[in-house]
Amino acid sequence: MRAMRDPGIQNPGTAVTPAKKALTRKGTGLSAKLLVLTILFVMLAEVLIFVPSIANFRNTWLQDRLADAELAVAALDPATYGTEGAAGDAMMQQVLLETLQAHELVVASDAGRQVLAQRTGIDGPLVANMAIDVDISTSNPLTSIWDAFKTLLDGGNVLRIHGAPEPPTGRYVEVVVEEYYMRDAMLEFSRNILILSIVISLITAGLVYLSLNALFVKPLRRLDQAMATFADAPEDPGSMIVPSGRGDELGTAEQRLASMQSDVRTMLTERRRLADVGLAVSKINHDLRNLLSSAHLLSERLDMIADPHVQRIAPKIVRAIDRAVSFCEAALAYGQVREEAPDRATFALAGLVDEAAEFAGLTSHNSLHFTNEIDPALAVRVGQENLFRILLNLMRNGRHALEAVTDSDEPLRLMVSADFIGDALCLKVADTGPGIPETVQERLFLPFHGDAGRRGGTGLGLAIAKELAEADGGTIRLVPSSECDRTLGAVFAITLPNARVEDAG
Ligand SMILES: Nc1ncnc2c1ncn2[C@@H]1O[C@H](COP(=O)(O)OP(=O)(O)OP(=O)(O)O)[C@@H](O)[C@H]1O
Ligand SMILES: [Mg+2]
Repeated sequence: MRAMRDPGIQNPGTAVTPAKKALTRKGTGLSAKLLVLTILFVMLAEVLIFVPSIANFRNTWLQDRLADAELAVAALDPATYGTEGAAGDAMMQQVLLETLQAHELVVASDAGRQVLAQRTGIDGPLVANMAIDVDISTSNPLTSIWDAFKTLLDGGNVLRIHGAPEPPTGRYVEVVVEEYYMRDAMLEFSRNILILSIVISLITAGLVYLSLNALFVKPLRRLDQAMATFADAPEDPGSMIVPSGRGDELGTAEQRLASMQSDVRTMLTERRRLADVGLAVSKINHDLRNLLSSAHLLSERLDMIADPHVQRIAPKIVRAIDRAVSFCEAALAYGQVREEAPDRATFALAGLVDEAAEFAGLTSHNSLHFTNEIDPALAVRVGQENLFRILLNLMRNGRHALEAVTDSDEPLRLMVSADFIGDALCLKVADTGPGIPETVQERLFLPFHGDAGRRGGTGLGLAIAKELAEADGGTIRLVPSSECDRTLGAVFAITLPNARVEDAG
């Protein structure tokens, strides 16, 4: 085996790796197929050439025979031969007929037919009488082909060959010959054509094979090897194909492959970086969970402090830390932050909304007014933690938007209301801020597509809120300003299905 290195690939592996093994060719190679096809096509072309040539060969044979016969007639003509005429020379007649391989020579005209020479013996006149008339002046290409094949397949007739009468005498010559002489000549001609065809097709096929091999098969093998090498070590820069620079379709394919390999390498690098980031996040999450757990233990001690202010705040701090711990644990457990379907619980909705508002810093804000319009007795059955996180995100956004308003005479307000549409809970979080910038609206719920101008925002809050709502079977949407009160800025609607509690009073 040749262990030559392909110049196009910087670092081909020498061992047969799994990727190469899996793609080892099973069927006949392209070169062998091309060779067989070329031979077949050349043979086909030769057959197409053979058909008219064999018909032509037959016509020529008949014309030659008639031309020879006319010479013989001239020799036998009394005017040429002398006063006695050769017609009376039986010896001369037989020699001429022998030479012509003919049975009879006739000169015919309007005046009648004169047999100039006839084979002696019993069958001489008999054979001549059986002869089929062949007028070479009336043949056309199609009849010639048809007659040629008839001769090849049968060829046992006797032919009386003649041409058109010569003007002005109306004289013409007939020669009677046995068809098998012609058939033998035609078979020999066919044999020669066959041998020639085989030789031509072998030479042509060889040349076509060599050129196609050089032009297509070798570059294709190179592409194939380049793909296998890249598949084995996509991260190795040396495994990328270096385009040969040829200007044809294969050159384009090489360039496409090179650019595809470069894209795949970039993607792999990005993916590796993301995996590294994921690992780092998991590590941070892990230690954050540990630190929060410690904070949780410490915060429980706040219970021991008798101060009523502390007593009011302490359980909330404990709950907040609890939430943070369980969120960290969920993220750690799944290795990624994908929201799972929550466990649903029945609880008083207004309480949860108040709690979220407090966490979002709305309840004790000195310039914003928070209104919880929900009936305190309304109980719902939804994923409590998910809804809390959705509300927290929306309220934080509302607070940031309202805090950014500096020149408003109207009071800055944020309202939450709830309604049922059938069994589905429809919660609305509305504020009197500036509304969502048009540029942000299109990609509002896509991660990292927040308002680039807003400081401190990551553009994740609404993407997370959407994922949380969907995990509970619901939706979240920005209510178009055309559908709500003009004085409002942003209005978000959260819909959670099957949230109605049957026995709720
Ligand atoms: N109530 C609102 N009023 C005005 N603009 C809003 C409101 N809510 C969201 N936005 C706009 O939508 C963008 C996306 O909000 P999102 O919560 O997804 O990200 P963020 O608030 O920028 O960052 P974070 O990940 O910290 O939440 C915000 O940057 C802001 O421009
Ligand atoms: Mg936000």
